[in-house]
Amino acid sequence: MSLDAVLARIDADLDQSTDRLMELLRIQSISTDPAFDAEVAKAADWLAADLASIGFDASVRDTTGHPMVVAHGSDDGPHVLFYGHYDVQPVDPLELWHRDPFDPAIEDQNGVKVIRGRGASDDKGQLMTFVEACRAWKAVTGKLPAKVTIFFEGEEESGSPSLVPFLEANADELKAEVALICDTGLFAEGVPGITTQLRGLLGEEITITGPSLDLHSGMFGGVAMNPIRVLSRILAGLHDESGVIQVPGFYDGIPELSDELRAQWDGLGFDVAGFLGPVGLSVPAGEADRTPLEMIWSRPTAEVNGIWGGYTGAGFKTVLPSQAHAKISFRLVAGQDPHVLRKSFRAWVEAQLPADCSVSFEGHGASPASQMDISHPAFQVTRQALSDEWPNEAAFIGSGGSIPVAGYFKEILGMDSILAGFGKDDDAIHSPNEKYDLSSFHHGIRSWARILGGLAS
Ligand code: BES
Ligand code: ZN
Repeated sequence: MSLDAVLARIDADLDQSTDRLMELLRIQSISTDPAFDAEVAKAADWLAADLASIGFDASVRDTTGHPMVVAHGSDDGPHVLFYGHYDVQPVDPLELWHRDPFDPAIEDQNGVKVIRGRGASDDKGQLMTFVEACRAWKAVTGKLPAKVTIFFEGEEESGSPSLVPFLEANADELKAEVALICDTGLFAEGVPGITTQLRGLLGEEITITGPSLDLHSGMFGGVAMNPIRVLSRILAGLHDESGVIQVPGFYDGIPELSDELRAQWDGLGFDVAGFLGPVGLSVPAGEADRTPLEMIWSRPTAEVNGIWGGYTGAGFKTVLPSQAHAKISFRLVAGQDPHVLRKSFRAWVEAQLPADCSVSFEGHGASPASQMDISHPAFQVTRQALSDEWPNEAAFIGSGGSIPVAGYFKEILGMDSILAGFGKDDDAIHSPNEKYDLSSFHHGIRSWARILGGLAS
């Protein structure tokens, strides 16, 4: 049977597949930093050339930002659109890496073989699992078991500014029966997950201005209002003692978990100590009356991502600063409208300003949560294929992260997304020393080969 031959081919070719991933990982495609624009373009070219080499009609499409890669297979069967992103996060702080982030290698990490390098897990290693599965099907049978369109983005890690216009302009070309996205993780070691709900994201940057210039804190301190004092009081008031967010109306419209979903999640046996322990923590810090899985998957958050102002350099400076700044992100769940919340948050901040202080805001993205309708038969095909490949049955799970493209696929192209991915909680995505387990890569390729095979029937 051809699936067995395809799987055998994947096993035999693993070294070559890994070498190809290494080539892609050497390209420094950091999308948020204009200094790397040429590298981002290089990664798009590399992918288009690789897809063309396995028979796709592949092209690099320019946008006003970074290019998209679109590739069409010429085969029959159900039409699926595969999505991944080839851009990566910046590497700082570089001194915490124990090798050059763009000189990837297979390393041993506690007896496990890992592919180390920026983007190994998020998302180059993951997107290559699908490409390698296609390559194996083509090599063994001469064709793909489904009509496959591949769509790679190079701006995911920097807010996807070109995505919506591109989807709108190319809707007819990109629309398929269902989308496949490989940008999420396993539920646990050996337990594959299909992510059916993602949190949304609202980003806000605030600047509070007090005096019109930086002042001597002896000459003016005591009589002049310090904007850092104002900012820290406001930020400290974002949560109450039990972790509840204090912006008025923040929780309005959020549905309670159905009894069915609660029972299903309880049945997953989430190991909170195993989740927090490796990052040096032990006590869940969200709303006191919620389970840890609810905190991550179905409850909203407010996090301060950065805070600065005054003098933070070497030594000491007795300054009373003119301005204080913070970047804040809100993870949103079903029922929350990012645009409404942006207004409520800004009004809540403004209401707390003392005399002589002003505030300005800059928005950084606003995407709602998304919830998949899993009735398309491809969801069951995927669940079966994953359960066949991994030691445990696949679970339908939530995700704390945000993948706005899934919402846009639904809104603009009218399709649901099957989010299957093989990342692990300890992959250190966005962090120093990012890695992807070699077994995630290998079984990820085999998983997509099975899913593609299953779609044909
Ligand atoms: N791959 C991640 C999303 C993710 C993280 C899924 C963890 C599952 C588990 C994705 O590349 C990402 O980081 N997205 C950003 C959103 C974006 C709008 C900047 C995020 O979630 O912060
Ligand atoms: Zn990603």
